[in-house]
Amino acid sequence: MYNVTYHVPVLTKEILNGLDDILQKSNSNQKIVVDATAGGLGHSSEIAKRLKSIDKLICIDKDSEAFKHNADRIKSDCKVIFINDGFENITQILKNNNIEKIDAVLADLGVSSHQIDVPERGFSYTKDGPLDMRMNQTQQRDAHHVVNNYTATRLEEVIKTFGEERYARQITSAIVNARPIETTMQLAKIITDAVPGNYYKTGGHPAKRTFQAIRMEVNRELEVLEKFVYDATHALKDGGRIAIITFHSLEDRIVKHAFKYLESPCVCPPKTPKCICGKVQELKILTKKPIVASNDEVNVNPRASSAKLRIGEKVA
Ligand SMILES: C[S@@+](CC[C@H](N)C(=O)[O-])C[C@H]1O[C@@H](n2cnc3c(N)ncnc32)[C@H](O)[C@@H]1O
Repeated sequence: MYNVTYHVPVLTKEILNGLDDILQKSNSNQKIVVDATAGGLGHSSEIAKRLKSIDKLICIDKDSEAFKHNADRIKSDCKVIFINDGFENITQILKNNNIEKIDAVLADLGVSSHQIDVPERGFSYTKDGPLDMRMNQTQQRDAHHVVNNYTATRLEEVIKTFGEERYARQITSAIVNARPIETTMQLAKIITDAVPGNYYKTGGHPAKRTFQAIRMEVNRELEVLEKFVYDATHALKDGGRIAIITFHSLEDRIVKHAFKYLESPCVCPPKTPKCICGKVQELKILTKKPIVASNDEVNVNPRASSAKLRIGEKVA
């Protein structure tokens, strides 16, 4: 049975609208849709409802827990393939499944509510657990390694860049002085004690940004994103669509720039008399500004407040 608390998906209506031309296309050819971050299968199950028995839905997630809980949530005659892998491997994943081109691809980045809610996964700064934070639980690097082994300079850079945390220096020095640190609550307390007492008033929970930064570092979240956008776009059929939901300004910037590069027909330096770069336009951006959640959605699901959806269409 699907556990409804696993994850409440964001911008579902907007995703379905954005992919509607593909999902409703009435031809007899097989449609292939990839959900690259399938998680609790909220988006996948809605997409599946719109697919026919000849169609295929490829559900990818690097967290092996994802499909254990929710696979029976998909009610559709379409063929569903679950793949436990990183979306950065999309080219190889498609090759392994003898798929040359796809009609649409969706990615809803970040963590699922389930990952945060289960203390043993070590993502939460309000529930005690081991310092883990790995989405793929078979990988080696975990939060314990980042917190206890990174040099102060590197740790501060992670917290400052990925967390956009203005007290990165103070937090880093408190962490380094308190090593070894074993649990999430221990870390959250060290961070809380390191920032000014009025932090709550302006910045939310004092540990929020640092935990986000460590999670992004553990899972190399930004590193794999650009490659994914390029590889996923290359895999699209002409007229196919790519839709990406981000929750962080750095993620959104990567998607925005990758889309712009893919849309550009030429990348020669300005004033080059004749184009010599050989670049061709691959994408048409359908969302000049990212789509954001309605107030109604944010009221029932506050996670949606930072979500931004960008959609592009593959051009010949
Ligand atoms: C916000 S949740 C997606 C929720 C999903 N859209 C739903 O409706 O339930 C993000 C998911 O992406 C997965 N994820 C993050 N980075 C990934 C990557 N590089 N490759 C595959 N899955 C990834 C996480 O494990 C998590 O389950």
